[in-house]
Amino acid sequence: MRIVMIGSGYVGLVSGACFADFGHHVTCVDKSEAKINALEAGEVPIYEPGLEAIIQQNRSAGRLDFSKNLAPSVGEADVVFIAVGTPSRRGDGHADLSYVYAAAREIAAAVRGFTVVVTKSTVPVGTGDEIERIFRDEFPEKDISVVSNPEFLREGAAITDFKRPDRIVIGTEDTRAVEVMREVYRPLYLNEAPLYFCERRTSELIKYAANAFLAMKITFINEIADLSEKIGADVQKVAKGIGMDKRIGDKFLHAGPGYGGSCFPKDTLALVKTAQDFDSPVRLIETTVAINDNRKRAMGRKVIAACDGDVRGKKIAVLGLTFKPNTDDMRDAPSLTIIQALLDGGATVHAYDPEGMDAAKDMLGPVIYGNDPYEIAAGADAIVIVTEWDEFRALDLKRLKTIMKKPVIVDLRNIYPVNEVTKYGFGYFAVGRKP
Ligand code: UGA
Repeated sequence: MRIVMIGSGYVGLVSGACFADFGHHVTCVDKSEAKINALEAGEVPIYEPGLEAIIQQNRSAGRLDFSKNLAPSVGEADVVFIAVGTPSRRGDGHADLSYVYAAAREIAAAVRGFTVVVTKSTVPVGTGDEIERIFRDEFPEKDISVVSNPEFLREGAAITDFKRPDRIVIGTEDTRAVEVMREVYRPLYLNEAPLYFCERRTSELIKYAANAFLAMKITFINEIADLSEKIGADVQKVAKGIGMDKRIGDKFLHAGPGYGGSCFPKDTLALVKTAQDFDSPVRLIETTVAINDNRKRAMGRKVIAACDGDVRGKKIAVLGLTFKPNTDDMRDAPSLTIIQALLDGGATVHAYDPEGMDAAKDMLGPVIYGNDPYEIAAGADAIVIVTEWDEFRALDLKRLKTIMKKPVIVDLRNIYPVNEVTKYGFGYFAVGRKP
């Protein structure tokens, strides 16, 4: 199969590299000359474990290449994936589809024989219909089938998620497209990953409903965490206890500072807007969005409370800035709101993150960055763990105790057993667990 991936961002690059790894020929296209030049020079613009190696191997094997210009490769392609960005539109929270429609028009102009055009970007319900209308009205001579095939990759675990998916959702009722998509996913299908075919609109909604449900699950456990703190229960044990019920499941029940990232905040908001437009509000998700927004600010207040209610003139060491570990992504990271609250409160904030500091520098105010946890903890009035990077899981507590001004740890990811920290004499403040 000859596959073209339009958009070499996170989803496009990971999917393109993995399809090539399965033996297809893949061209990843991007309008950014700088990005394509970097990729051609062997540099991978995002941090994702395992991605660089797969890109290198498949480039050397001649199965993966990069281009600024989509026309030549699209003319030869069996399948063209649209994996461009769909950011929240400023002002109204709807997904901005201008990049998607621009790509669709360019693709249609370049297509030669029968071609399947697949939306991989997260697009609101009805986008496939609109692309089909554009093709029909503006390119009536072209033979194109429009398919929805959302992705369910998690940043930091994207390669495994791609290669071992729980399911592959494909929205099309066109039998020719069904055959082509079966062929595209044959290597995975043989791995027993279920291919789930449905109508295009259903497939588009599955993506939003899945992300919204997961966001709701996290928000639920976060509220149970607050309640646990008040009534003296342990939220981790509550999560385990309810998660053992297969109807509930044990995943996405880690209480924390609120969900962030490039997907949940944007997709929940877009679903809320779509549902309102269709006069069928999704009130659970509206509430989820509101609770999560408040939570990030509440976490700032939690840190201030742990510092005896006042951080003015105090040094706070923040460990972890990215919205989750194993990524350099800072989009909608809870650290942004928490650090702002600390700065507003008059604190001096020192921060360290293994991968996120470059991006953070453009997004955060006057923060002082360090090279490791101990450097920023020296003389600090409190340490705040915001992102659960592995290297924060086994900190030398004895050493920290001697170098900090006050031994206080606010662990917003619950990565330490309470007694382990308190035995060194730390004041320990976790989420949903009484010290
Ligand atoms: C999410 C979904 O998990 C993917 O299936 C989906 O493909 C992707 O969005 C997308 O739409 O592109 P991602 O945003 O990379 O993936 O990361 P998650 O692991 O889902 O984490 C999202 C946020 O929820 C993070 O801030 C994380 O810290 C938080 N989270 C997650 C919790 O607070 N508790 C949990 O139990 C799980």
